[in-house]
Amino acid sequence: MDSFSTLIRTASHEQHVEAETSTFMSDLLGGRLGVAAYARYTEQLWFVYEALEAAAGRLASDPVAGPFIRPELMRLSSLERDLAHLRGPGWRTGLAALPATEEYAARVRECAERWPAGYVAHHYTRYLGDLSGGQIIRDKAERTWGFAKKGDGVRFYVFESIPNPAAFKREYRELLDGIRADDLEKLRVVAECKRAFALNTAVFRALGEEFPLSA
Ligand code: HEM
Repeated sequence: MDSFSTLIRTASHEQHVEAETSTFMSDLLGGRLGVAAYARYTEQLWFVYEALEAAAGRLASDPVAGPFIRPELMRLSSLERDLAHLRGPGWRTGLAALPATEEYAARVRECAERWPAGYVAHHYTRYLGDLSGGQIIRDKAERTWGFAKKGDGVRFYVFESIPNPAAFKREYRELLDGIRADDLEKLRVVAECKRAFALNTAVFRALGEEFPLSA
């Protein structure tokens, strides 16, 4: 068997392309959407990271998920600053999850509660993605909507405590390779990763329906 980090990357490759080239993402990266669409997307991320990070404290001592829980990854407070910038101080009042987002967050919570290795699949899918393609999104968002470079509005994409993302990702892949799971469990984690991608794509689809291109 390939190393687990290779396996999970290769197995999710096709879905990665699908997520990356989804109508919503293409329109966002193509600079064709207004800031309202970006704000709505950021709002959806809040629900996902709330689910991921509410469980982090408890999972930190878990033998399987524990090694992945790193304070420098935590995104919720950055998301909250972005939302305060995008929506104003009352951002919390209007916060609303799309049904697809609710489904995604519920699955994260379920894994966090019952299946730490499944939680790792969700952790990988989001955080390694944010450290990678997230940087492309940040750059585009800064240019399209005029946010200050690495400032309010795009703090979600700025990992202040990870000065060298490439090195961090290498270490992360080593953690994946050392995951305390047998081969069958690893395959289940890969399947959960695919599910995580599908849950992301469903959110993009819903966002695409909410923000069809008028032009
Ligand atoms: C337009 C959107 C996206 C772009 C441009 C993008 C781009 C990239 C790039 C360039 C990498 C390679 C980084 C490297 O080799 O170090 C990467 C990796 C990754 N992306 Fe994305 N991505 C996007 C969306 C997503 C989404 C929606 C997800 C899932 C929620 C995701 C999850 C991942 C993961 C997990 C990796 C790490 C793969 C690995 O090395 O194991 N990406 N992305």
